[in-house]
Amino acid sequence: MIDELEIQITKVERSKLNEIDFNHLPFGKYFTDHMLEADYEDGEWKSVEIKPYQPLLLEPSLAALHYGQAIFEGIKAYKNNAGEAYIFRPQDNFKRFNISADRMEMPPVPEEIFIEGMRKLIELDKNWIPHKYDYSLYIRPIMFATDTTIGVKPSDTYKFLILLSPTGPYYANPMKIYVEEIYTRAAPGGVGFAKNAGNYGGSLKAAAVAKSRGYDQVLWTDAFEHKWLQEVGTMNVFFVFGNKAITPSLEEGTILAGVTRDSVMTILEEMGVKVEERRISIEELIEAYKSGKLTELFGTGTAATISPIKELCYKDFTMKFETENWKIAPTVKKRLTDIRDGVAEDKFGWMIKV
Ligand code: COI
Repeated sequence: MIDELEIQITKVERSKLNEIDFNHLPFGKYFTDHMLEADYEDGEWKSVEIKPYQPLLLEPSLAALHYGQAIFEGIKAYKNNAGEAYIFRPQDNFKRFNISADRMEMPPVPEEIFIEGMRKLIELDKNWIPHKYDYSLYIRPIMFATDTTIGVKPSDTYKFLILLSPTGPYYANPMKIYVEEIYTRAAPGGVGFAKNAGNYGGSLKAAAVAKSRGYDQVLWTDAFEHKWLQEVGTMNVFFVFGNKAITPSLEEGTILAGVTRDSVMTILEEMGVKVEERRISIEELIEAYKSGKLTELFGTGTAATISPIKELCYKDFTMKFETENWKIAPTVKKRLTDIRDGVAEDKFGWMIKV
């Protein structure tokens, strides 16, 4: 058992840093020089190692490949204007990771590995953190089942990895979204609140259909009536009605408890915008659009940050927005950016020094 974190560190012989064009960083395409790797066996986390980013040697019978016992997180590190490296709210992602682990019948990862391991890894690769508007170092912790037997049962062994990816914006432009009413992402009692790999794999068909119709993503609706709004693929969603913002509640366990969602709620309240976490139907949204009450709508997520939605289509009805004239979403985004850049005081204690 790891009482005190002992991380074996093996450094690369030659960094790849100079091979990357930091002005062109598509999301998740490039990875830094090092990664963290830990293995769980006999009921304990036994080894923690930081080593050169490299392929894994895995057996074809690997349990995760067959039954999807795999979870992940998305976190970001920034360099502030003084050049210091900070991670945004990693404790919240750490807690959520272990909530996902519990739902998927996987062991928790200890804080010393998840948080301290992440800090050590970033410390080593901190020259990879971009310092540019909407750019960051995306941190991808992942855990998956590594038993090599194909009976359907929780694995006895697991691998935990942390990868780092310097990245630009996920959605560079305001989005066009399609309200989904055929496919379902999550139902109460299911795994919608967990960040398990299958939730994303299962979303791809609906996203592909939306893309073929000219949309960037779908807005998921509930499994029974297809009328209660849940989340956009890869993001939580906020609807602004004048000086009030509504976001679907977490109560039914069908949406992800986004860390950016929580940060946005805090900032909105600080701005004097009332936040309502509750059920909201597509009918209510359409009525609010028709009466002029629905003034802005945007997605929030670690990868996506704050992404305005310029078009929302339900059946054959399309709601259109002039995002250039919005007040709330750009103000929230600026406030978050200022905190990350060290320009505004971090009064909520969100920025953790590497
Ligand atoms: C994130 O926002 O970090 C996500 O995990 C969404 C997506 C890129 C999978």
